[in-house]
Amino acid sequence: MMRKSCATVTIAVLLVCAGLEAQSGAPASAPDVRTGIYDPSLDARVETLLRRMTLEEKVGQVVQYSAGQPTGPGTNRTDYEDMIAKGQIGALFNISTAKETNRYQRIAVEKSRLKIPIIFGLDVIHGFRTVFPVPLALASTWDPALVEQTARVAAREASATGIRWTFSPMVDIARDARWGRITEGAGEDPFLGSEMAAAYVRGYQGTRLDEPDSIAACAKHFVGYGAAEGGRDYNTTEISEHTLRQIYLPPFRAAVNAGAATIMSAFNSLNGVPASANPFTLRQVLREEWGFRGVVDSDWESVREVIQHGIANDRATAARKAFLAGVDMDMASSVYHDHLGQLVSSGQVPQERLDESVRNVLRLKFALGLFEHPYADEAREAQAMLRPDGVSLARTAAERSFVLLKNSPGPNSAPLLPLSNSGQRIALIGPLADDLPSALGSWAGLGRGEDVVSFQAALAKHVGEQNLIHLKGVGATGGGSDEDLAAAVAASARADVVILALGEPGGEMTGEATSRAFLGLPGRQQELLEKIVATGKPVVLVLFSGRPLTLPWAFEHVPAVLAAWLPGIQAGPALVRTLYGESSTTGKLVVSWPRSVGQEPLYYNALNTGRPADKSDLTNPPGGSDDTYVSRYIDERNDPQFPFGYGLSYTTFRYGSTEINASELKASGLTAGLHDGAARTRAVLTASADVTNTGSRPGEEIVQLYVRLNGTSVAQPVRALKGFQRILLAPGETKKVTFALVPDAFALWNDRNQWVVEQEKVTVWISPDSAHGAPATVQILP
Ligand code: BGC
Repeated sequence: MMRKSCATVTIAVLLVCAGLEAQSGAPASAPDVRTGIYDPSLDARVETLLRRMTLEEKVGQVVQYSAGQPTGPGTNRTDYEDMIAKGQIGALFNISTAKETNRYQRIAVEKSRLKIPIIFGLDVIHGFRTVFPVPLALASTWDPALVEQTARVAAREASATGIRWTFSPMVDIARDARWGRITEGAGEDPFLGSEMAAAYVRGYQGTRLDEPDSIAACAKHFVGYGAAEGGRDYNTTEISEHTLRQIYLPPFRAAVNAGAATIMSAFNSLNGVPASANPFTLRQVLREEWGFRGVVDSDWESVREVIQHGIANDRATAARKAFLAGVDMDMASSVYHDHLGQLVSSGQVPQERLDESVRNVLRLKFALGLFEHPYADEAREAQAMLRPDGVSLARTAAERSFVLLKNSPGPNSAPLLPLSNSGQRIALIGPLADDLPSALGSWAGLGRGEDVVSFQAALAKHVGEQNLIHLKGVGATGGGSDEDLAAAVAASARADVVILALGEPGGEMTGEATSRAFLGLPGRQQELLEKIVATGKPVVLVLFSGRPLTLPWAFEHVPAVLAAWLPGIQAGPALVRTLYGESSTTGKLVVSWPRSVGQEPLYYNALNTGRPADKSDLTNPPGGSDDTYVSRYIDERNDPQFPFGYGLSYTTFRYGSTEINASELKASGLTAGLHDGAARTRAVLTASADVTNTGSRPGEEIVQLYVRLNGTSVAQPVRALKGFQRILLAPGETKKVTFALVPDAFALWNDRNQWVVEQEKVTVWISPDSAHGAPATVQILP
C-alpha cells in the first residue's frame, strides 16, 4: 500500500495534503505502490504462466459469470463446473459461502490443466454481514479513518467466505438526487469523494493484498455514470473533458493512487461513446496517464450493451470494441467467451492485446496470494461474522452519519433535541421505525433483517414499553387505512412528544434502478405528517432515505429534523443515543439538499454564470429588471434548502475571520511544484480561523476550507472544498484552526486541459459549510 509522504506532518497539513492524489494531473505517474498489483516481482511468475496458456485458456481468464444466489441474479448457465474444468472461467461472483467458493475452487485447482484459481467477487458495498450505514451516510461522517475501518471489517467478513474481490467503492460524483444510486457514493464533491475513495481502498486491501483478510477493491463506475441526464439511471452523459478531469475523475485517481486493484467500466455513454468501449478514458487516462496496472472489469453485461448504445451491430463487434478500448474482463454477458478467441485467431484483436489483459488478471490473482491459498477456511467463516468490534463500529458509524437539519425550540423554549429522559410519553409513528430490511439500504451484502436492532426496539428499551406507543399510521410506499391514520394521530395527541419515522424505504426506493421524478414522501406519509403536526405536540422527524428528499413543508413546520439515512444494523441504538443526547450529532451534508426537484442537478461547486442571481432579497415572481434577467427561476429560490457541508450540533459554534499567511506566490513556481514530489507536499500558504464553542455542551465540529479562483483561463466554481478538520471544543473554548495549503489547492485544468496554477485571485473561506464564512483573498502572480 502506498503511504503518503506527508503522513508525518500535523493533522491540519495531512488533511489538505491527502487531497493531492486526487487532484493531481501529473501525467504518467504510476502510483507509488510497491506491493499488490504493483509488485514488480510478480511479473516473472505471470510471464511463465502466460507462456504455457492456450488461446482458450487465455480467453477463460477474462470471462466472469454470476453464479447467482443468494445475493444476486445468475447468468443463466448451468455448466460452470464443466467450464471451470476446461479453464474457461476466470472469475465468479454472487456466491457467498466458504463451502460454495471452495467447491468451485477445487474444480479450478484440481481439475483444470493449469490449476489457475478462480477469483470470487461480490458487491460488498457497506458491509458484508455487519451492515454499516449506506455509503452516502458514511461519507456524511466526514471521517475517512472511520470509513476505512468499516471497509476493513467488511473485508474480514467477506474474505472468510473466499470472496477476495469487492465491487466497491462506488466513487461516482452525484449531483442529482433523482438518481437512486446517489446512495451508493460519497456525494457531490471531488475532494471529499477522493478522501473517501482512498479510505475504502485502504480498508479493503489492508496493508498487503495477500493477507488472508484482504480483498481487492474495485472503483466504479468508470466514468461519469453519476451525470446521467435527468437523474435517470443508465441514461446518457455529456461531460466536457475539463469537467471530467476536474470533477468526475479525481475520486478514481485517488482510488488508483491508493492502490485499487480493479476498476469497473460504467453503463453510460460518455459524449456518445459507451464508457465500456471508451479508449480515451480506459486507455489514455487510466493506463497511460495514471499508469494503472490492475484489471478493468465491465459492469453487468455492459460489453454486450454497446450494441444497444448503437456502436456495434453484433456481439462480436461489441466484444472487439470493448476489448480494444481496454475492458479486460467481461462481467456476465458471455460475449468475450463466445467471440474473443475467434477475434484473436482472425487477427481482428492482436494476440498482444489479449496477453495484456490476461497478465492483468493473473497479476491480481498472484497479488492476492490465491495460488498459494486458493481455499477459504470454512472454520473461520462463522467466527468472522458480526464480531462485537464490528457491531460497535456500526453503531459509531451510524451516530456520526446522522445530520441534524433543524432543531428549533420545543415547549421549554430550548431546542427540542436532545430529548429529556424525564419519563415523557412518546408516540413513535411511521412505517420505518421497525422496517428491518429498509434499515439495511440497498446492496446490503449478506445482511439480514434479523441482525438489525430497530429504532422501535431500541426506543422501547430506553424509555420503557409503558411510555411508548408505536403505530405505523400508513404504509411506506402506499396504503394505510383512514382508521390507521386516525389512530396514529389520536395516539400522538395523547403523547408528550411525537417521533415520526418517515422517508423512503431502503430496499425498494434506493440504489440501482430507483430514479425518482418526485422526491417527496411516498404514499400517504405527507398527509400523516401534516395531521400529526396539527395536534400541536412537539414533533421530531427522523427521516430515513438514501438521498435528500424535497420536504419544504416539513422544514417549515416541524421543529426538529434528523437525516438518519439508512443506518444499518445498529440503527436503533444509534438513533436513541443521538436523540437523547448521549451522542451529539456531528455529520454534515455531502450533497446540496434541494427545495424542489426542479432545482436538480444542484451542487455547490457550480459556476457563477454571467448573470448570477446573487442578491439575497430576490422575490418570487421577479420584481424588477435587476431581478429578472439573471440566472434564476421565477417560481423557486436558487439556493438549496440546506447547503453542502451543513449540519447542526447540539452546541453552537462561532467562526472568526479567515486569516491568510503566505509569502509571494507565483504561478510558475506553483505549477512546477505540482509536478515535483517534494514540492507538491510543501505548504505554500496557511489559512486559519478561530472557532469557538458558544453553547453549553462540548461539541465536535467539522471545519471546512473552501477556495475560489478568479481570473483563470477556464471559469472555476464559486467555491471548491480543499480541506477539512474535525475539532473538539469544550463549552466556551476557542481553537485556532490552521490549514496548510499545498500547490494543488490552487490548481485547475486549464483551457488546454493541463493541470496548472495560473495568475489568479484566490479567495479562501474557513467555514462551517459551503454557504457561510468570512472570505480572505490573495493574488497569485504570473
Ligand atoms: C451494478 C454494479 C454491480 C454489478 C454486479 C451492476 O448492475 O451496476 O454496480 O457491481 O451489477 O452486481
